[in-house]
Amino acid sequence: MNISFRNWMKETQADVEVALNQYLPSTQTVPENLHEAMAYAVLDGGKRVRPLLVFAAGKLFDAPQELLSRAACAVEMIHAYSLVHDDMPCMDDDALRRGKPTVHKQYNEATALLVGDALQAQAFIVLSNAKASADRILPMLQLLAQASGSIGMCGGQAIDLASVGQALTLSELEQMHRLKTGALLRASVLLGAMGGKLLSPDEIQALDSYSSAIGLAFQVVDDVLDATADSATLGKTAGKDAADNKPTYVSLLGLDASRQLAAQLCSDAHQALSQFGESAQHLHDLADLIVQRKA
Ligand code: IPE
Ligand code: IPE
Ligand code: MG
Ligand code: MG
Ligand code: MG
Repeated sequence: MNISFRNWMKETQADVEVALNQYLPSTQTVPENLHEAMAYAVLDGGKRVRPLLVFAAGKLFDAPQELLSRAACAVEMIHAYSLVHDDMPCMDDDALRRGKPTVHKQYNEATALLVGDALQAQAFIVLSNAKASADRILPMLQLLAQASGSIGMCGGQAIDLASVGQALTLSELEQMHRLKTGALLRASVLLGAMGGKLLSPDEIQALDSYSSAIGLAFQVVDDVLDATADSATLGKTAGKDAADNKPTYVSLLGLDASRQLAAQLCSDAHQALSQFGESAQHLHDLADLIVQRKA
């Protein structure tokens, strides 16, 4: 990883931490316990890949900082909510997330349910309050809602839960991954871009190809890491997919073919950006990070 990308990433992650803190309801506000649990779920953890994608795409198209910051925090709040619910006993039943006890372990199940519900609502409050025209913000809100709902992340989670113990075809598995994980990553790239100058159909197509490649690659790598890394490195329980009999790229294709697919998707992502030249360097670097990450 080159130094300038690393520095940009660290700075952006630090800015996002400050902004998330600012956009969450204060922990002094009633009900304090719920607000404290929301902060527990969102702050101080995670790679912040989605906010990084928002900022990298937004900078490419000169989007204003405040709008990007709100879009980045909104998508991260939706993501954090999806993790809180994903870890609950009715879903993956996990005890460890981002190196800490999961929300339902630290608090209780009802609190975890409400943390997710409230974070989802908060995401839309944060983005809708941006200092930008309604014409600009409305399509961004629609995109985020679509990527989060039953034809996006929630839909993918429903397929995931219905697929335990099943032998999915490759195309069924791909669809599940594109929805449960790809949809929010794609939305992150497009939200950043939509915050800036008007895009040509060609540019939209290129960003869509890029984001669809990294979106799928992200979950393929998540499956590989679940099977190969340890819990301390991941900050979540390793080996959980096989233990729970989940269909994954590793269970369907094996480790080598899964890694090869991730590398192919990474190369597709680079290819998709060719028309943007050097100004898309952070998006190139993020594609590499998504595929080469160790956690
Ligand atoms: C984990 O996402 C869940 C998936 C969608 C695969 P991340 O790997 O981005 O988790 P954090 O945000 O870094 O904790
Ligand atoms: C979850 O996928 C994707 C979400 C929408 C949260 P996983 O169940 O594989 O995520 P991890 O491995 O628990 O982070
Ligand atoms: Mg899951
Ligand atoms: Mg899980
Ligand atoms: Mg996983």
